[in-house]
Amino acid sequence: MVSSSFFFLHVLIMLSFTVMVFSDLSNDFYDDVCPEALPTIKRVVEDAVRQERRMGASLLRLHFHDCFVNGCDASILLDQTETIDSEKTARPNNNSIRGFEVIDKIKSEVNKACGHPIVSCADIVAVAARDSVVAMQSLSMYLDVGYNRRSKGSVEQ
Ligand code: HEM
Repeated sequence: MVSSSFFFLHVLIMLSFTVMVFSDLSNDFYDDVCPEALPTIKRVVEDAVRQERRMGASLLRLHFHDCFVNGCDASILLDQTETIDSEKTARPNNNSIRGFEVIDKIKSEVNKACGHPIVSCADIVAVAARDSVVAMQSLSMYLDVGYNRRSKGSVEQ
């Protein structure tokens, strides 16, 4: 419960930041152009989290690391080329950031559902982060509690 609230708080902060920077964004943008876009992202994310619970955390982190360099522009998805100095392989990300295959699956399913590539990668990464946190909220974990009674430590601890 505590961990899912923590993730939820972080994703809210990240998404509010995105909205503040791009104030012409709206939460019904895809309603007319492709109403299936957001439900499709949600479905793929829920499948991915059901298969591997950690993916919920990984997609949130992917969004955070995308926003860290030059805003939330999906630049983290770009591969290294002669002209692109990829964020993917930068030291904090290389072999550490996860979830690229889920984003690829979302892109392909969303393009199929909409009939053409209308949904931006930046939107996909942001919505996937939100939906992964929501998907995690239906999961829980066991915690060993009762620390104060069992502990031999001092009150200051
Ligand atoms: C500058 C501040 C931060 C630093 C230095 C930091 C550092 C790290 C490190 C070292 C890891 C472990 C990576 C690994 O095992 O390969 C990690 C994992 C993680 N971080 Fe951060 N982090 C920061 C901020 C954040 C923020 C703001 C969020 C949420 C929006 C976040 C969400 C996560 C999550 C969910 C994981 C686990 C990812 C997974 O299991 O795939 N971190 N972080």
